[in-house]
Amino acid sequence: MKNSVLQTSFYLLLILIISNFFPTNAETCRPSGHIIGRKPPPGQCMENSDSLCCIPHKLYSTYKCSPPVSANTNATLTINSFQKGGDGGDPSKCDNQYHSDDSPVVALSTGWYKNGERCRNFIKIHANGRSIKAMVVDECDSSMGCDKDHEYLPPCQNNLVVASKAVWEGLGIPVTNWGEMPVTWTDA
Ligand SMILES: *[C@@H]1O[C@H](CO)[C@@H](O)[C@H](O)[C@H]1NC(C)=O
Repeated sequence: MKNSVLQTSFYLLLILIISNFFPTNAETCRPSGHIIGRKPPPGQCMENSDSLCCIPHKLYSTYKCSPPVSANTNATLTINSFQKGGDGGDPSKCDNQYHSDDSPVVALSTGWYKNGERCRNFIKIHANGRSIKAMVVDECDSSMGCDKDHEYLPPCQNNLVVASKAVWEGLGIPVTNWGEMPVTWTDA
């Protein structure tokens, strides 16, 4: 038992050392796996439209990594409600709380969420010639999806900043354009 733990640690160390010799590998974010969409049980997918729910038999890539963070990290900004009764479902993962639509908060894709390391940190989001600071409160899970825990929604893309209404307002985006747009962000 102890031996196998030692062996595992040794191999992990080896992988760590080897990967450091090839820094380009660290810059590339490849899928960690794939999942096959399942038909949600009736009324189980939280999206009313159903258009975002997992499509049966469709292959979805999963990611545990996200692109490297820089001074202006490219991302896709999407919208979500972190309020109680909002489309976000459960309370936010960082603090087990709900957050008002009027509060600038975001969820980050798994790699950027970094196992909670960015929780309660602020990031600065740039778009439309403006910028706004928003607090990280949740994860958008890129590593899993299409199951009950993820409301039968596909895994998130690995480059998402999922933002509350307040962020879209703060960036001065007309309501008619809310939904999805390219932005850049950095740690604030
Ligand atoms: C970020 O996006 C811009 C505009 O689409 C592009 O020109 C640039 O190469 C991207 N940067 C990275 C690091 O992907």
